[in-house]
Amino acid sequence: LEGACPFGGNKVGGAQTSRPTLQDWYPDRLRVEQLHRDGAAANPLRDLDYPAAFATIDLDELKADIKKLLTTSVSWWPSDYGNYAPQMIRMSWHSAGTYRIADGRGGAGEAMQRFAPISSWWDNGNTDKSRRLLSPIKQKYGNRLSWADLIVLTGNCSLEVMGFPTFGFGGGRRDAWEPDDAVYWGPEYIDNMNPPSGDAMVMRDQRWTGEPGSDDYELEQPLAASHSALIYVNPEGPEGNGDPAASAVDIRITFGRMAMNDEETVALIAGGHAFGKSHGQVSPDRIGVPPDVAPMESMGLGWHNPQGKGNAEDTMTNGIEGSWTPNPTTWDNDYLENLFRFEWEQTESPAGALQWKPTDATAPTTPDAHLEGVEHPLMMMTSDIALKVDPVYRAICERFLADFDYFTDQFSRAWYKLTHRDMGPKDRYLGPEVAAEDLPWQDPLPKAEHPVVGDAGIAKLKQAVLDSGVSVSDLAFTAFSSAITYRDTDKRGGANGARLALAPQKDWPVNARTVPVLDALRRVRADFNSGAEQVSLADLIVLGGCVAVEQAAAAAGEPVTVPFTPGRVDATDEQTDVPTFEWLAPAVDGFRSYQMDDWATVAPAVSPEQMFLDKAALLRLSAPEWTVLTGGLRVLGCNHDGSADGVFTDRVGVLTNDFFTTLTSTDYEWTKQDEAGTAFTLDDRETGAPAYSASRHDLVFGANQQLRAVAEVYAASDGHALFVRDFVAVWDKLMMADRYDVKNT
Ligand code: HEM
Repeated sequence: LEGACPFGGNKVGGAQTSRPTLQDWYPDRLRVEQLHRDGAAANPLRDLDYPAAFATIDLDELKADIKKLLTTSVSWWPSDYGNYAPQMIRMSWHSAGTYRIADGRGGAGEAMQRFAPISSWWDNGNTDKSRRLLSPIKQKYGNRLSWADLIVLTGNCSLEVMGFPTFGFGGGRRDAWEPDDAVYWGPEYIDNMNPPSGDAMVMRDQRWTGEPGSDDYELEQPLAASHSALIYVNPEGPEGNGDPAASAVDIRITFGRMAMNDEETVALIAGGHAFGKSHGQVSPDRIGVPPDVAPMESMGLGWHNPQGKGNAEDTMTNGIEGSWTPNPTTWDNDYLENLFRFEWEQTESPAGALQWKPTDATAPTTPDAHLEGVEHPLMMMTSDIALKVDPVYRAICERFLADFDYFTDQFSRAWYKLTHRDMGPKDRYLGPEVAAEDLPWQDPLPKAEHPVVGDAGIAKLKQAVLDSGVSVSDLAFTAFSSAITYRDTDKRGGANGARLALAPQKDWPVNARTVPVLDALRRVRADFNSGAEQVSLADLIVLGGCVAVEQAAAAAGEPVTVPFTPGRVDATDEQTDVPTFEWLAPAVDGFRSYQMDDWATVAPAVSPEQMFLDKAALLRLSAPEWTVLTGGLRVLGCNHDGSADGVFTDRVGVLTNDFFTTLTSTDYEWTKQDEAGTAFTLDDRETGAPAYSASRHDLVFGANQQLRAVAEVYAASDGHALFVRDFVAVWDKLMMADRYDVKNT
């Protein structure tokens, strides 16, 4: 109506909630905005010096507070057996158990269990109660204690109050402040309101290939869970089939994706299920919706249970009912002893879930968690029987059965690994309970045996690098290759340690070009180290990159000093866990124009630029940083095979903004050179003569609107100085990405 307020009446609110969203319109678009997730704007504690704040906590007092809370039952969610410890261990394990080695995502590091979708996964049922129970502790310690640290520490305290000796605790985890939409958790059932049945079972097929037990039975990369909305496997067996042997296959694959070996896997499952119980009193159909879709008045809690008290003896969580041992709040070997002493037969829980009970009527019973004088048969899940049925797991169980101290030590170490493995270098661990021992999964580095090289030494080394005859391109490529393995998700990789020179990295095809460069740098180093000062190879590789960028910038008429922070050390083969480092090998690396040979066969549905975006996200680059870094690498001549793709310049090795001016120029047109659209030429519009070649890794910066907007900034007449400045900044960011020895993060 003329004169009516455009925001009046029923138009209000539509702008925020109605579909279609951008994602509905363009489902295949490159979601560049994912790079900016969990930025400073989302973080109310962005100015907090967390290590300093954490250091003010008296850990003994905090642990005493937590332990008191564990044994003080409250009426809104009464504790089983008068002790919240078992449910807290499950919360803690689920928080850490999302970790996956393929891309380092998941894990306990950011307390992502608080946010969707993880907060609403069926497997996380009632962990919302566990976290809410902890809120008095969180309130008391405030910003000095992150949720992520509190969740892990509570797991430790819980184990300790039940008599288990923990291996250690390192604080230092920083909370995320929003959901992480960049993580691919696999096909999910869209209606995330119901337990994993029906449609969800169909979804399971979408992440597996081959038949269970066959050689080609494989779980989609980079996933680690066998099933959507579960942390690892279905306790009732694959597709709820109650087959323990098939369950063992899934357990081995999924725990392997968490980088746990067979012994660690058995230790964790047998250790964890020494405690607490499963809850299955009510049919899943009657349980309310999960937290992220629950009604407003639920205030962030979900899974409303309408039966009886809705908690205590009426609790419904997973659907299986019962406990594994007669003493569910004591650390002992009863779980394994009962598993092996008795034969087990299938039965059903009140909620209708498939579970197992002893065939022997004289087997011990377990007390009801709330009702005095009531006893129940012991319970095992199909995934527990799996440990007895699988021959390798069985042998491990038998060793644990024969040697309880050994089992205790293995569980204690595996728990420490589970809860700390996404924290990265030990330099990041805070507090008095950090275990002194270096552990292989921490990618340990040696202590420096010599003082850090000083300014005069650096100047001398720079000259020696220049005199070595190695080209600017090769020096830059090698430094970049050394740093590019870093991933912010689990803080692994990076230039420190010079692992580029060790197996497996030295043998990756993408790094072949670095081999002669490393030889030349080793000669420079040997010469320098014969004098009074010493330099590590790791530092020299990075310094070589600084020299290259400075040379290239000066040649482009924009002289700069590239920051260099020495102090890196060289790792040894013994300190390098080859199998887990193999996971850092790139399948696609757009920065170096690399793509594994059979990429299109391996992942036909995933475009190279999506993988490139993912790598930028793992490096925690912003869209401008991603763009400027790529544009700089191209003119520096940093393609892994020395190819001309994307090298839109006649002055290779000079830090011009030519990549951007050419990319955004209307003087040329791009022509597809193959059916699949992976190779292109840039042709002069007037003459038709091809001027340059390119891949999708290059064109994406001109084709994607968001990246093009950034590219235009660097292509503009006033863009060159900006380009050099921003390139140097992101270069330094990358070289320093893993320097937790000097960074306060
Ligand atoms: C409880 C499954 C591994 C610790 C449960 C429950 C299920 C389950 C279904 C019952 C949840 C409920 O209804 O309350 C599995 C499966 C595993 C596995 C399928 C892997 C094959 C682990 C690990 C740990 C652990 C590795 C810890 C190291 C616990 C604890 C409880 C529990 C302490 C008792 C919770 C309570 O008393 O409230 N598990 N679990 N589980 N799980 Fe696991």
